Amino acid sequence: MNYRHHFHAGNFADVLKHALLVQLVRGLQRKDKGFLYLDTHAGRGAYDLAAAAFGDTLTRRPEWPEGIGRLWSLPDLPPALTEYVDMVRAFDRTLGPAGTESVTSIAPQFYPGSPNLVRALARPQDRLALCEKHPEECAALRTELGGAARTGIHEMDGYAALRSMLPPPEKRALVLIDPAFEAQDEFAQIAGGLREALRRFSSGVYAIWYPLTERARVDAFFDELRILSLPPTLVVELSIAGENSSLKLKGCGLVVLNPPWQFDGATQAWLPVLARALAQDAGGGVSQRWLVPE
Ligand SMILES: C[S@@+](CC[C@H](N)C(=O)[O-])C[C@H]1O[C@@H](n2cnc3c(N)ncnc32)[C@H](O)[C@@H]1O
Repeated sequence: MNYRHHFHAGNFADVLKHALLVQLVRGLQRKDKGFLYLDTHAGRGAYDLAAAAFGDTLTRRPEWPEGIGRLWSLPDLPPALTEYVDMVRAFDRTLGPAGTESVTSIAPQFYPGSPNLVRALARPQDRLALCEKHPEECAALRTELGGAARTGIHEMDGYAALRSMLPPPEKRALVLIDPAFEAQDEFAQIAGGLREALRRFSSGVYAIWYPLTERARVDAFFDELRILSLPPTLVVELSIAGENSSLKLKGCGLVVLNPPWQFDGATQAWLPVLARALAQDAGGGVSQRWLVPE
């Protein structure tokens, strides 16, 4: 395994994904009935941001200062972003040694992964299934959340979980598919996994993160998705730089199948603020469109 999420934790891509994830959970929680949160690529759940500055052999430029770092002390954020940043702040305070409030008010020291964010929001009737294939990351996740209520931690392939864990007994689910994109055929694996998942459970809410390195690859992915007879599907995309920028990762997006009611309208209120806060080069911005209309 080459990919280590701790190098990327809290970067602009995590910020977009996690701010949207919090709102997706809130959307599902408008109904009292509990749901399954299935995280197919869960990671280790908690990240020490100091570790982001050290590679295996060389020092690295951490990515979080251009992500959560940019929002940390920004005043007057819209409510959805305030909710997300407050959750990161609460997590940071819990892990930091007592008395570090003055340090954490300047910059975060710890950053929560998707499992910890959802765990913090989960109600007694909600259930978490967290899948992580890599033993070391999974062991760290188990240390982090192993004792948590109604939370299962599974060292397994997340795509296999789409077959074995769906449909859930609750008949409601939010599924986050957040791969590392190490594999050349990751987009094809996602499409294959989704095909299986939809066959078993077409009414689930599925959120799929993707990187925006080359527009053509993303368009080809959307073409693959369109063949699947998708339910209503929204695409939210953030570019931190224009197409001609020399940045390798120019942006990222989240494809959301069966988004909760009025999710698209609500996000329109804060996505432009986020895009302005996270821009790194000219030509960035945010877009939201229906791949398959409601
Ligand atoms: C982008 S990170 C996940 C970050 C996490 N979802 C979050 O938001 O905090 C991707 C994770 O997927 C794991 N992984 C890679 N291939 C996998 C697979 N086939 N099944 C499950 N996990 C996998 C990697 O070890 C890595 O921890």
